[in-house]
Amino acid sequence: MAQVVPLPAPEAAPEERPVLVVDLGGQYSQLIARRVRECRVYSELVAHTASPDAVAARRPLALVLSGGPASVYAEGAPQVDPGLFELGVPVLGICYGMQLMARDLGGRVERTGASEFGRTELRAERGALFDNLAERQTVWMSHRDSVTAPPLGSRVVAGSPSTPIAAFEDPERRLYGVQFHPEVVHTRQGTEMLKNFLYRVADAPPVWTAAAVIEEETARIRAQVGRERVLCALSGGVDSAVAALLVHKAVGDQLTCVFVDHGLLRKDEAAQVVETFGRHFHVPLVHVDARERFLARLEGVTEPEEKRLRIGEEFIRVFEAEATRLGRVRHLVQGTLYSDVIESGGTDGVAATIKSHHNVGGLPERMDLELVEPLRMLFKDEVRRVGEELGLPERMVWRHPFPGPGLAIRIIGEVTPERLEILREADAILLDEVRRAGLYRELWQCFAVLPAIRSVGVQGDERTYAYPIVIRAVTSEDAMTADWARLPYDLLETISSRIINEIPGVNRVALDLSSKPPATIEWE
Ligand code: XMP
Repeated sequence: MAQVVPLPAPEAAPEERPVLVVDLGGQYSQLIARRVRECRVYSELVAHTASPDAVAARRPLALVLSGGPASVYAEGAPQVDPGLFELGVPVLGICYGMQLMARDLGGRVERTGASEFGRTELRAERGALFDNLAERQTVWMSHRDSVTAPPLGSRVVAGSPSTPIAAFEDPERRLYGVQFHPEVVHTRQGTEMLKNFLYRVADAPPVWTAAAVIEEETARIRAQVGRERVLCALSGGVDSAVAALLVHKAVGDQLTCVFVDHGLLRKDEAAQVVETFGRHFHVPLVHVDARERFLARLEGVTEPEEKRLRIGEEFIRVFEAEATRLGRVRHLVQGTLYSDVIESGGTDGVAATIKSHHNVGGLPERMDLELVEPLRMLFKDEVRRVGEELGLPERMVWRHPFPGPGLAIRIIGEVTPERLEILREADAILLDEVRRAGLYRELWQCFAVLPAIRSVGVQGDERTYAYPIVIRAVTSEDAMTADWARLPYDLLETISSRIINEIPGVNRVALDLSSKPPATIEWE
């Protein structure tokens, strides 16, 4: 018999009592975990193969079964051990998860021919999930099969015109199922429904806050690091900044940050890092001015991957030299995020190999450094909230993603001091105007590109032969796909005339109208 979960200790830290999202392969599994956390309840993904004992050992406050493939009867369709329903833990099944519950708990699932995709009008008659909500709801559906008989002992609490059983509940066993997706924004009151499940059904307190994260992470860092020294590479980006501040809060001056200025950053960014960390937060900071070295390594290089390779190699060389100079250091901070952990398949409890791009390539093994990963359980938006709570300036908290090789891959062809200067100035004008228009946070990324062509122009009485600047502005959720941003014409006009008038060597501005795919966000 599966073990019964003990009652919550009132002082338990949020992470000790998670809501576990059982990942059945649906596209919204991560989103469910994020939504639960937005309700201030800590949530993690677990693989659907997790055994009831393993799940019980995590002492979950509730389980949410995610969506999944088309049919619970399909060959190889993911299953859960029905023992999960016997743990005495409240369960909410969503879409496929709901259908699994119906099939495994004495109900029925069939292909009725009435599939639904998109917005649907729901009539919610009663039930804890719809407490205090209007009887008619707009919800988001995406299913072919339907539940035609709810689990034994449960009652139907909502239906839509073509899906009479759109939600069921069994308050005694605390088993709930919904055919629609409360986690997507098109389900207008989806968050309210999740809150009803979390707060009323599962008694999960809303205690997962940025302040709680900081408290827990600093305690964990202290336990891991002890009295040893810690090293952190600052890039100027929000992840490494927040990771460094957490470690500094935990172990103070045992931390040394190394900031390698490779000269490929945007205007004023290096100064901002030094000002914020060195002078404002008093974090021990080694500022390495390696601009000349990087430029020398890039001389004559035009091929994008060769640029990346050389910059990466040089970075490790510089960083390693600084690390060695510092003497005995035991730990290296890495800004791994929860989405990296999930994407690397780390949700089944098996140690995962994390994508190496956060890593200072190969250094941990070579120098025998142990990784400290204070953001490992956080989504990007949570990292930002923690950053705000720690007092990181707004500019750093909300900074757009920026590639490690920096401006070098936005200069097509050779990187020279003159061309870097042109691009840096154009980029600064672009961002300045976008910020002024209040659009910075609406965009995923916005930057200038310097192509390797020149064209004819006329300025005053003189004929010019100069570079164009390309404006690239995109909206995106995760950089996997992106759309070009519809910037207002007036804003484009201001940007264009400022760039052309203020930067010698530029006589045209063009706008990139490509989405990803087929284009990429960056030009190299
Ligand atoms: P693409 O151009 O592939 O970019 O659509 C997707 C996202 O990745 C960033 N990017 C990089 N980040 N090193 C990085 O650290 C790189 O070499 C690199 N190349 C692209 C890009 O800015 C976008 O956010």
